[in-house]
Amino acid sequence: MPENGAIEAVYRGLSHSAQVIKMNVQTARALYARPMSQALHQHEDTSRTALRSATSEAHARLDALMQGGLQDAATYRAYLQAMHRFLGDAEVVLDELPRRSLWVARDLATLGVPALPPRGVLRRAGLPEERLGWEYVIVGSSLGARLLQRDARKLGFDADNGARFLAAHTDGDAWANLLKRLSAIEPTQNRRITLLVRGARDAFASAEASFRRALQLDAIP
Ligand code: HEM
Repeated sequence: MPENGAIEAVYRGLSHSAQVIKMNVQTARALYARPMSQALHQHEDTSRTALRSATSEAHARLDALMQGGLQDAATYRAYLQAMHRFLGDAEVVLDELPRRSLWVARDLATLGVPALPPRGVLRRAGLPEERLGWEYVIVGSSLGARLLQRDARKLGFDADNGARFLAAHTDGDAWANLLKRLSAIEPTQNRRITLLVRGARDAFASAEASFRRALQLDAIP
């Protein structure tokens, strides 16, 4: 049998470990509650961190519009309408064939939800860095979409029933490829970073307008 002192030491050790775990959980929660720009990979200095910090407020606004997820089926329908318009406009800006917007269009058709009119009046993004900024937002939206996919499943939507887009968007290596392309731009290349940020901010503005429209927050038709 260990002596009382030894038992106390073990107990103190355990209690310390519990304290450390508790602190870690609290720290993780606090980090998650902070803007992503501050919460993740603070030590890095890359074109991605520049993009993330330049757009973290815009992202937080989107997140707030959606109240952090898909609360009900009506919010999911608005999400589809908003993403359909955002992605359709983005394909115009990037001068690409419709692809992601078609994935969403199929969900709209399955659920009998009409599309929104395009936002329009967007110019084509000509410079490679500006285009990459748009792509960062398009492809980055698949990260949060993993959480939304979980919400959608709870509401009864899956790849076979109205949530094909979320399944396709969260699949594959688009994000890894995008990060590779971003890593070719040094954070010290100011002109290139400015263009990246401009593209990403324009894309977030386009997404925000689409979400506001889909959630009927503005009087604008
Ligand atoms: C309620 C809706 C949304 C939620 C809850 C959400 C949540 C998240 C989360 C948790 C991440 C970080 C994931 C990770 O690092 O593994 C993330 C990243 C990102 N999201 Fe969202 N998101 C939402 C909507 C959107 C939308 C609509 C867009 C753009 C149209 C978007 C653009 C991005 C981008 C660009 C990133 C990458 C940021 C980085 O560089 O780390 N998100 N999102």
